[in-house]
Amino acid sequence: MSLKACIFDLDGVIVDTAKYHYLAWKKLTVMLNIHFNEKDNERLKGVSRMASLDIILEIGRVTLDEKKKDEYAAMKNEWYLDYIRRMTPDEILPGSLELISELKNAGIKVALGSASKNTPLILERLGIEKLFDAVADGNVVSKAKPDPEVFNEAAKMVGVAPEDCVVFEDALAGVEAALNAGMFCIGIGSEKILTDAHYVVSGLDKINLRKLRKIMK
Ligand code: BG6
Ligand code: MG
Repeated sequence: MSLKACIFDLDGVIVDTAKYHYLAWKKLTVMLNIHFNEKDNERLKGVSRMASLDIILEIGRVTLDEKKKDEYAAMKNEWYLDYIRRMTPDEILPGSLELISELKNAGIKVALGSASKNTPLILERLGIEKLFDAVADGNVVSKAKPDPEVFNEAAKMVGVAPEDCVVFEDALAGVEAALNAGMFCIGIGSEKILTDAHYVVSGLDKINLRKLRKIMK
């Protein structure tokens, strides 16, 4: 492969929104009398809003009809947005801007591949809405990770073949999605958890273009 594009997941890679998702889901689970803790929250990383609600209902052994589920998902999202609207650019995770600018200077395309329907608002709050060459998010795809759709869409948007793309992902479902797309995957987090990724670093501040090229050899 030749490195032509890098596709970044948003939540957990560029910014830590997991804590806000947790607080919003927690509020809902308290209301529904479901025991839900931070360990359970790990299972929701990279998973779409509705699939997250399904996991929570499964934990609480609660069954709801579709209409009620839509209502609760919308409620959770409103609480989540209360946090997101207050985000500032200093919440961008260390190393993100440095790596992206290094890649761009080297002529490598940078794209975003996120499950979140709130991607436009988050990018705006962080002041990076113009940073990426392309944005594929929960508003343009219908199949959730581990389906490769979101990464394939991002690759298509920047006109690069999947085998020439590298994905940066913090979630298990996201790593699987990248592999399903036939892309090289750098896991962001713990190598004990992201065992299928080609290589794992703790954050974007632990990688640069030179190191990436070396890993991919
Ligand atoms: C992913 C997060 O990026 O987006 C998940 O890791 C979240 O936790 C999913 O459920 C959907 O996000 P949103 O903002 O559309 O509810
Ligand atoms: Mg993520």
